[in-house]
Order: sequence, then structure tokens, then C-alpha cells
Amino acid sequence: MLSRLFFLLLLFSGATLAKQVPFQLHETDDNPKHRFPESPPVYPSPQQIPINQAWKTAIKKAKKDVEKLTLEEKVGLGTGNGWPGGLCFGVIKPIDRIGFKGLCIHDGPLGVRAVDLVSAFPAGINAASTFDRSLIRARGEAIGVEYREKGINVYLGPMTNLQRTPWAGRNWEGWGGDPYLAGEATYETIVGVQSKGVQCNVKHFINNEQERDRGRISSNVDDRTQHEIYLPPFLQAVLANTASVMASYNRLNGSWATQNSKTLNGILKGELGFPGYVLSDFFGTQSGVAACNAGLDMPVPIGDYFGKNIVEAVKNGTVNQSRVDDLATRVLSAWYLTGQDKGFPEVNFNAFDEQDQVHNKHVDVQHDHWKIIREIGAASHVLLKNLNETLPLRRPRSLILIGSDAGPPPLGPNYYHDRFITPSDRTGVLAMGWGSGTCYFPYLIDPLSAVQRRAKKEHIDLSWFLDDYDRNEAARLASEKEVAVVFLSADSGEATNGDLYGIGDRPDLEAWHNGTDLVLAVADSNPNTIVVIHSVGPINMEKWIDHPNVKAVLWAGIQGQEVGNALADVLFGDVNPSGRLPYTIAKRDGDYPAKIEHDTDDWPIPQTEYSEGLLVDYRAFDSRNITPRFEFGFGLSYTSFTYSPIWQRSLPTKTRILEDEIERDLIDRGQGSSIREWLHEPRWEINLEVKNEGAVAGHEVVQLYVAFPKDCGEPPKALKGFERIYVQPGLLELVNFKLSYYDLSIWDVLTQRWIKPKGKFRLLVGASSRDIRSEAVLEEWRKFEDEEHDSLVSQED
Ligand code: NOJ
Repeated sequence: MLSRLFFLLLLFSGATLAKQVPFQLHETDDNPKHRFPESPPVYPSPQQIPINQAWKTAIKKAKKDVEKLTLEEKVGLGTGNGWPGGLCFGVIKPIDRIGFKGLCIHDGPLGVRAVDLVSAFPAGINAASTFDRSLIRARGEAIGVEYREKGINVYLGPMTNLQRTPWAGRNWEGWGGDPYLAGEATYETIVGVQSKGVQCNVKHFINNEQERDRGRISSNVDDRTQHEIYLPPFLQAVLANTASVMASYNRLNGSWATQNSKTLNGILKGELGFPGYVLSDFFGTQSGVAACNAGLDMPVPIGDYFGKNIVEAVKNGTVNQSRVDDLATRVLSAWYLTGQDKGFPEVNFNAFDEQDQVHNKHVDVQHDHWKIIREIGAASHVLLKNLNETLPLRRPRSLILIGSDAGPPPLGPNYYHDRFITPSDRTGVLAMGWGSGTCYFPYLIDPLSAVQRRAKKEHIDLSWFLDDYDRNEAARLASEKEVAVVFLSADSGEATNGDLYGIGDRPDLEAWHNGTDLVLAVADSNPNTIVVIHSVGPINMEKWIDHPNVKAVLWAGIQGQEVGNALADVLFGDVNPSGRLPYTIAKRDGDYPAKIEHDTDDWPIPQTEYSEGLLVDYRAFDSRNITPRFEFGFGLSYTSFTYSPIWQRSLPTKTRILEDEIERDLIDRGQGSSIREWLHEPRWEINLEVKNEGAVAGHEVVQLYVAFPKDCGEPPKALKGFERIYVQPGLLELVNFKLSYYDLSIWDVLTQRWIKPKGKFRLLVGASSRDIRSEAVLEEWRKFEDEEHDSLVSQED
């Protein structure tokens, strides 16, 4: 035991970080509005460490190369090449004499941006609503194949900022309002994409949760909230071996995210031990020396702040040679990590010039990805309401589709650049938001086309009315049909490119194009009204959701190219819906815990206070006892399931829980303290059986929430596990969750470490965050005797 302690002491003493403290308030005068947080300095920038064998091998190769490079070449590895600097949105120049072919860095996340013959995948928010790790992984793998075959080294994704507020424009690119779900989706995506040899760039680090003023606002977040709510997806990204991370546009506690030494040096490269490189959001670098010393490795697309300026800074001693060696090794080792030194295809398009006959080779990279797109699409539909088993449709005699969202976009799917469009122009089915997170649709199967095919096959009398505003005519036509389906949409996106002060966030949470009135008109005249919603996030449905004629409601989200087919699969019962809401839908706008900060009069820069702290999404509704319209995790099925009681056991582990203060202090203070195996190794196993009580087979998404001991300041419950299982009618399936020490920890601000609070933990297993079916108190993990543990450790050695 003593020898192990000594070894650990040696291992971590060199890497001990500067003492980190939570942010402090800085007062500029007596005005309480002028009290701003200060982000504490954390220097020097940690040198890269190999956090596992894969990185170790890659770093070894990279170090050999870096020894051969000149100062200019090393800096060049972290210097963007201009706009346009080549064929892709971001370009790093090759260094031929070491065989480095340079980097093509390109958007994402739902498909290859601005290039033809690619697939348009379901958005992140839909992947999340499947609550299915293997589908999310498969989506990542397919995306990885497409990037690789286009010759793109770095995929600018996944986008993992949390849905802090439903008004935020880019929520649809991400995974919703829960850090655990976002973390799992991030992990699976990165493993999937990187398995195809493409580097991931997880973004935007950190607290870029609104578009308005994103280029200057300061997100002011306390240390505990930062660690428990916003950091987990990035932690999972590091565990998944992400090659790179993008620093966001905004400031964080007063200091730009692209040069914030606390978040880059302290948290990302320090606590998380991230061995890859940090690039800036595009045009988001604010300085050279300051950014480089604070941990930024690569300003893109323009590298003016780096290049010859950093060369000069090394020569005059303002940047250490070791920082530049570290930067170069980080970039090269990420390249080796993903195997890009061998047989990586050349870039075969020019994203800046569609007329470029030389480089636009129009390589078709789609394969049969439409299949996984359709499968994820169907699996992501959330059935919100279904009275009298209205769905699935059983060959209705007549059916009418109402609303422009049922049909094709009148000007074609790719008419508007990056799908950026003013609301009045945007008609036709919504299958993508707008901004850099878009791609060209190769085709777009709208709901009308898909339902037509079914009508032909099943001899249904089908009609449609795609006008959103003539409510009288819509009502008259609907009254003549057996079933009426009304289509609603609500769009949002990224602030306009080049104008970081532009729009993107949602002005309100209403359905677009007169949607609310249209539903009311149709529901007043047809007793079998079904509502389908293609939306970037929650919409306000209070005026019609309880209308007795609104018999069924399907949340379809942002589906990509197969939108119509995926919907038809669910409407007609080929697929039993199992999607779950990755966020809460409130009854009133005021019930959501956070809004977009509009107060741009703050002096000297706009501030957004994350004053809701840990109370994001369902955590807020639970803790304030507010009944939502539909809670996080909610979703119906065409069948029903029952849950058995829970049973638990402790798992054999390689590591022990570090309860000894001295030993723990040694280990926890070092670089990578938040990703140690002892924190993340599964220790508890929670089991139950789930039975399908209905007549049709289907998937159930079983969710595990943990209620922390009462006095430790946590919200009433937090998601810590989910499993999507397929169960045949009348049969049982075993469901199995695993918990680690980290899963049961809170961030202790004083000691700056993860600590499992003392007291009673309750396990809540259910079909949503408010439909808990089985409960138990967590049993203490059986402690291994030292001897038994030591023998396990030595086997491992
Ligand atoms: C700005 C966006 O915030 C980021 O997500 C994107 O990758 C870059 N632009 C490049 O388009």
C-alpha cells in the first residue's frame, strides 16, 4: 500500500495544478449592476499527458516528429490559413517532410455542410430523443464515413451545449436539457465518428447557450453549476478520446472562452486531462500571446494572431518554447490517434466555389445511410397524446393533411443558403434549422409524398390543403374527412454568419404560420384530429392540447431527408413509437427557469447570469413543484409496460473508492483528476424486469433517476441511466443499469473535487422523470478488503 502511495506521489507531483478557486465578484463601483465575476487565472498551460494507451502511442509518434520541426513549423500546426484558406472552412497547412498532409476542418454536425451528394441526418435533438446509444453510435459511424470519403480530417461536431432555455436558437443541434443524456450522446457520437478515422471537434466550450450577443456576452456561471450541469458532456467527450475541442465565442465569467485560462488550462486540460487540441470558434480568437498561454492551440480560420506573432513571442520569451512544443504535439498526436497518417483520402470538393471544376469531384458518400436516417427518424418520434387508440391509423376511409409543413418546400429543399430564411418565406416541411449546422438535402421526402404512397397501397381517400391561413376552408374540408392531420412547425438557428450580433434565437415559443389557429379551426370541425409537430424545441400548445377533438399528438422534431417516411412508419404502425422528450414542455413561458438575456445595456458588456444554478429543465420544475405540460423523458407507446421491483448488487472493480484523505488528496489534485478510473468504474448494478402487457411488440425507454441525500443541495432527482429495450407482447426483458462513484458525486467547491455526499440515496426507475414505477434505497457498495483489492490491482498491472 505504501509503495503504491509513493508511486502515485511521483506520478502526480509534477503535474500538480495551480490552486484553483471558484470565481469571485469584482466590483467596479457602488452600482450593484456593475459587479462582475472574475475568472481566476490558471497558469502555466498544462503539458499534454497520455490519458490512455491510444493517446500514449499517438503522442510518442507525434513527439518524434515535433523534434524535427522548426519553430515556424510548430506554430504553423496551430495556425489557421485564412478565409478561404483552401477548400474547406478551416485549413492547416501540410508539412511534407514529416508526411503531414495538413488538416481540412469542416462543419457539421448533422451532415457535411455546403457540399453535394451527402446525407442530411436527423438533428442531434432527435438522436437524443431516441434514448438509444446504439442508434446514436450508428449515426456517428455513418457521419464519420461521409466526412472521411470527402477527405475531411476534422468534423466540427458534436455540438453539446445544453438546452438551458427553450428560446436558444441552436438547441436542435444539441441533445436537450440534461447533462447525463447529453454526455452519453456526445460519447457515442465521438466513438462512432472517430472509429472511421475522422477527428471530432466537440463544441462549444463553454456556456454558449444563447445566440444573441454570443460574440461578446459574458456567461456568468458558478463553479458547482459549471461542473455538474455544463461540463459533463465535455468530460464524456474526453473519455471518448475526442481529438479536439472548440472554444466558444462568448466570455465566461468575464474572460473570453478562447483565452480563459480557468476553463482551458484549469478545467479542460487540467481537471479533465484533455490531451488533444483546442481550436477557436470561427473568427473568435481575441489575442495571440494571451490566448496561447491560456491554452488555445489553434485560431481558425484566420491565424493572424498566431503564426509569426507567436514565433516572435517565443523568441522574446512571452510564450515558452514548451507551450509551442505542446501545441504542436497535441495537433499531431490527434492526427495519429485517428490513424490519419495512413491512407486518408484527399479533399475532393471546394466549399467556397461550386463552379470549381477541378476540385469539385462530386464524390457520392451517401451509401445506404438513408436506412439509419429513417430508423432514427421513426425512433425519435415522441407520442404525446393518443386518445381512444387513434394512432396507429387503421386504413381510415378518408384522410386529409393540412398545413404547409405537410408538403415540400415550394422553392426546393436547398434554395436558401445554410437554410437561413425569414419566417414568412419558410414553408414546406421543416427538417433542418438554419446556420452552420446544416447541409444540403440530397432529396427531401415530405410527409405528403410518403403518405401518398401509403394511400395508394391501402386505398385511402387522401386529400390535402397546404394553406396555413384560410382557416375556414381548412375547417370545411376537414369536416368532410374521417381523419385530419394538422402539421405545425417552429424554426430557429444560428446568428447570421459574419454578424455575431444577429438573430437566431426564437422570439417566442409559438407554432409558426398561424399554426395554433389552424389546429383550433380543424379540431372544431373534425372529431379525429391529429397534430404533427416539426419543431426545433418546445412550442406552446395550451390553447389546443386539451381540445376533446385533438385525439393524438406526435412530436417529430428535426428529422432530415427521410422526414416523411419516418413519420409514415409511425402513423401507420410499422414502427411503434418510443421516442422520449429530451426536454420539458411547460404550460406557461414563465415556468421555464431561464430566458435569453436581452439586456444589452449592461456595462461594459452584456452579462447573462446563470442564476438558476443547478435548476435546469426538469430539475427546476421538480424543485419548484411546477406541473409541466409534458415532462422530460415523457413519451407514449402503442403498447404498455409494467416494471418489477428493483434489485441491486455491487460489482467487482479494479479500483477502490478513495476515502483515505491523504491518498485521495495526492490523486485528486493532479492533471486528469476528474477522469480517473476509480471515479468512473461501474460499482453498483441496478436491475429490474420490464413486461410488455399489450398486444404489439415495442421499445420501452427505461430511465433511472437518483435522488441525492436531502441536505446536499441537489435538485429532487437527476437522470443517471437509461436503456431502450425491445419487448415482445406478453414477455419480460431484464434491464440493467450501472453506477459509478462519479454518478453519485457532487462537485465540492471548497476542495475542488468530486465527493459522494453522506446519507441516503434513492433510486427511482420509471418511464419518464415524473412516472416513477419502482423505487429503492441505494445499498452501500461493499468495500473490498485491502488484500483482496491489492490482488486485483496487481493482476491489472
Ligand atoms: C460558427 C459556429 O458557432 C460553429 O459551430 C461553426 O463550426 C463555425 N461557425 C464554422 O462554421
